[in-house]
Amino acid sequence: MKRLLLTLLLTLPFAAQAVDMENGKKLSRSCALCHGQLGQGTPGPASPRLAGTPAGYMVQQVEAYINGDRPNLRMVITSSLHSLSEDDIDDIAAYYESINLNKIAPGLSMIPQWPGNIAQGEAIYGEECKSCHRKNGMGKSRKGIPALALQYSQYLFRQIKMFQWRKRVHDDEPDDETFDNFSDQQIESILAYVSSLAPNNKR
Ligand code: HEC
Ligand code: HEC
Repeated sequence: MKRLLLTLLLTLPFAAQAVDMENGKKLSRSCALCHGQLGQGTPGPASPRLAGTPAGYMVQQVEAYINGDRPNLRMVITSSLHSLSEDDIDDIAAYYESINLNKIAPGLSMIPQWPGNIAQGEAIYGEECKSCHRKNGMGKSRKGIPALALQYSQYLFRQIKMFQWRKRVHDDEPDDETFDNFSDQQIESILAYVSSLAPNNKR
């Protein structure tokens, strides 16, 4: 019986752990300056959307910024990321994951359709990305896999260049070669397909 209980506890999804949404909401005010009041972000390379981001992924990323694996000193200082406890970070991540912009603020939920060859992007995505980022582009919270379909294309483009330049690690694998052979044109096609999965662009 004890073992059964332990197994149950260990298999509880991330969101079922005790998180304090109110605390997350309160702390998120310091993120709003750059990421928007509801975490909607702004089209462009430098203000990614946080609303709807899988919590497991977000916790890992905030930690990566704190320890410098992803460079962004301005954000670390502006939001005093070093002073947040692990519980605080869990709360912020759970709060942002719970924000469904499409429902509560459709006007802020728009992801512009990125121009490019959607059919080519779909073929590449199906072969090389779908197994992890999922068919619907929503990622997997517990595995730390982000929701590409909810993110701005220019930001994603820049991240893919960072992966190609080995300035950011993709999939926890420093030697990851996923993007090495893609031309900018192929990356644009992938993003054209990925943005077509955004709820506001769904065909
Ligand atoms: C001074 C502006 C600024 C503030 C304040 C700020 N951020 Fe950011 N944030 C950025 C920028 C710019 C990026 C993109 C950086 C990059 O390219 O890695 C970013 C990226 C992120 C990402 C990565 C998103 C992804 O899809 O990988 C997360 C997570 C994040 N911020 C969380 C937060 C949280 C949580 C707070 C508040 C506690 C916060 N940020 C406050 C500017 C800011
Ligand atoms: C084996 C699983 C796996 C595959 C296959 C995969 N990814 Fe990822 N991807 C991840 C993980 C895990 C992360 C989180 C990376 C981290 O730890 O920083 C990620 C992160 C990303 C990010 C950063 C998103 C953000 O919000 O900053 C982009 C962009 C991305 N992947 C694009 C792709 C594309 C495009 C493909 C296909 C060509 C692909 N990935 C294939 C697992 C995968």
